[in-house]
Amino acid sequence: MNLILLGPPGAGKGTQAKRLEQSQGIAQVSTGDMLRAEVAAGSEIGRRADAIMKSGALMPDEVIIAMLASRVKRPDCARGFILDGFPRTVPQAEALDAMLASMDSPLDAVIELRVDDSVLVERIAGRFTCANCGAGYHDSFKPTKLGGICDQCGHHEFVRRADDRRETVAARLEAYHRQTAPILPHYRAQGRLHSVDGMAEIDAVTAEIAEVLTRVSARASAAQ
Ligand code: AP5
Repeated sequence: MNLILLGPPGAGKGTQAKRLEQSQGIAQVSTGDMLRAEVAAGSEIGRRADAIMKSGALMPDEVIIAMLASRVKRPDCARGFILDGFPRTVPQAEALDAMLASMDSPLDAVIELRVDDSVLVERIAGRFTCANCGAGYHDSFKPTKLGGICDQCGHHEFVRRADDRRETVAARLEAYHRQTAPILPHYRAQGRLHSVDGMAEIDAVTAEIAEVLTRVSARASAAQ
């Protein structure tokens, strides 16, 4: 199964992609995580990405498309993948269509997480992750169960993203509305777009996505 999770920064794409990775047994492919790994490695792409991400703008299409094309050919994507943060522009969406056609691996569903801009800043500003295992938390919405200790690995150091400052979030939201939201009609026209209420609690969003996937699978079985 190949899925896209679409939505503005802080909509919950990463949170839901990790859950889908477990429930569906397919790989989460996050272009943001890939770029952060390049930044940490100090590569040429990473140096470029560091400045662009801190400004809240998007990386050039050709760089991201090339990264994604090699990532989805890796063995962990053989059973399918959840794209988290890609595509983000119309040229990226068109490149993905061509890529999937050449792999004979169709797209099953595009899930849009709808969240009002007003709640996104609070979500992003409160976000932190375990420095050891990467488990995600939020100061108010998803704190650690035992204060300061990761629920998953017991580590006690946490990190916050450099682009999660309030000033940068405004620029990221602007980039979403100007460059990413225009790809929604592309997938609506293909009949693959499913909108989910991303304002609901995390478990309720997961349940709504599961319902969408059940409907998509039933429709695919009926068409065979
Ligand atoms: P990327 O890493 O993709 O960031 P983003 O799209 O801005 O999304 P986020 O990771 O901030 O949020 P999310 O939707 O995953 O939310 P999360 O689950 O963490 O991209 C970063 C940058 O990289 C871009 O700005 C760009 O520069 C570059 N880039 C990446 N891909 C690119 C591309 N394709 N082309 C060009 N440039 C690219 O949730 C947020 C918080 O809210 C968490 O704390 C979570 O616990 C909490 N939360 C989640 N769901 C809920 C809920 N339902 N209720 C309450 N709280 C919730």
